[in-house]
Amino acid sequence: MTMPTVLTTELRTSLDASITDVGSAATLPPAIYTSPEFLDFETEALFMKEWLCVGRAERIPEVGDWFTVTIVDEPLIIARDKAGAVRAMSAVCQHRAMQVCDGQGNNTTFKCPYHHWNYSLDGRLLGAPAMEKTVDFNKADFGLPQLRVEEWLGFVFVNFDADAAPLAPTLERYTPFLDNYDLESAVCPGTFTLEGMPWNWKVMFENFNDGYHANRLHQFVQDFCPSSMSEFPVPWSDDSNVIFRTAGYTHIDGGFNATHRVIMDVFPKLTEEERTRSTFALVPPTLCFGTAPDQCFFFLVRPTGPETIDVEIGYIFHPSALEDPLFEQKMALSDAGVQVFVEQDQDATTKVQQGLRSRFAPRGRYSWQEESHIQFNRWLVARYDAAWPEG
Ligand code: FES
Ligand SMILES: [Fe+2]
Repeated sequence: MTMPTVLTTELRTSLDASITDVGSAATLPPAIYTSPEFLDFETEALFMKEWLCVGRAERIPEVGDWFTVTIVDEPLIIARDKAGAVRAMSAVCQHRAMQVCDGQGNNTTFKCPYHHWNYSLDGRLLGAPAMEKTVDFNKADFGLPQLRVEEWLGFVFVNFDADAAPLAPTLERYTPFLDNYDLESAVCPGTFTLEGMPWNWKVMFENFNDGYHANRLHQFVQDFCPSSMSEFPVPWSDDSNVIFRTAGYTHIDGGFNATHRVIMDVFPKLTEEERTRSTFALVPPTLCFGTAPDQCFFFLVRPTGPETIDVEIGYIFHPSALEDPLFEQKMALSDAGVQVFVEQDQDATTKVQQGLRSRFAPRGRYSWQEESHIQFNRWLVARYDAAWPEG
C-alpha cells in the first residue's frame, strides 16, 4: 500500500494558475503552506539547492570568530579561517554526531565536547584521542562536511549544493538600487531572533514584500508610503534570485516611525529619488531585505516546521549613525516605530496561517499592487517543477 501524498499531479497542475499575469492569476494552493510533507519536499527542492543567507560577515571579523545557525534542522558553523576567509560547515561531529559547538565565540580549533575530536577552523579533523587501535582510521575521511560560501554586499550566503551556480549574477536586477548604500562598509549593530512564529515561511516572504497592505493594515502609520506608490521597476526574469519592488514616499526622508521621518543619519550618497522611497526585496528561501533612507533592515527566515519559523532581524546603518552620542536613544525611537508595524503584521500573518488551514481557505485573486507575489510564485514553481516526483 502506498501512503497518500500531497505531491500529486493535480497539485502540480494547480500551481499553473498562480504563475500567469497578475490580472489573471490565483493565489497558491493552501496545502503548500500547511503540509509537513510539502516542507520536506521544499527542503530538498529549495533549501538544499539555493543560496541561504546566514547573516552579516562583520559578525565574524577576526580569524577564529564563529557562530552557529540551524537551517531546516541542519546545525551549521560559520567561521573565519586562518586565511581570513569565511567558511561554512556542518556542526555535526563526524564521530557520533554531537554538535561540535553551539552559540558563538572565538577559537583556534573546534573541540567536540563529547569525546574531544578536534577540528580546524576549516573543518579538517586534526586529532582524535585513543583511536590508534582503530583499523584503517584515516583522519582525512572525517572532516566536517563543507558548504559553499559566497559573500554579497556584506551578507554571507551558504549553499548545500556543491554545484550551485554563483549567486551574485542572479541578483543583478536589484544591485543598482543598493550601490549608493555602500553596504559592504555599513554597520549592523546586532540582531535579535523571534522564535517559533506561527506561520509558514512563504507567508513571511509574502507579507514582507506586500505593498498592497501598506496603507491598509498599516493605515495612518504608513500613509507616507502608500500602496499606490509601489512599483515593480525591472521586468521579471526566470533566472533571477531576487524579487523586489520600490515603495515611494509622499515626502523625502520618510521613516517607519511615529514622526514618518528618518531618525538616523541618511546614507550620504543617496540621490533625492532614493531618499523618497524604500525598496523591499526577497532573496528566497531565507533573506528578506529592505531599504529606507537612514537604514536597511533584514529578516533571516528559518522554517522550524510547516507552520512555524524563527525570524532573525537586523538593521544596517551608515557608520556615522553609530558615532552619534544619541544613537541608543534614536535606536529606541526607531524600534518603537517599527514595533507598531511588527504587531500589526504578526496579527495578520498569524491569522493568515490559521485561515490557510481552513476548509474555506481560498485560491484568491490578486491586485495589480501584488505583482511581487506572482514573481515569487514563478520563482517557487520553477523549482518545485524541477524536483516534483515522477508519476
Ligand atoms: S561525538 Fe564528537 S567526539 Fe564523539
Ligand atoms: Fe506590514
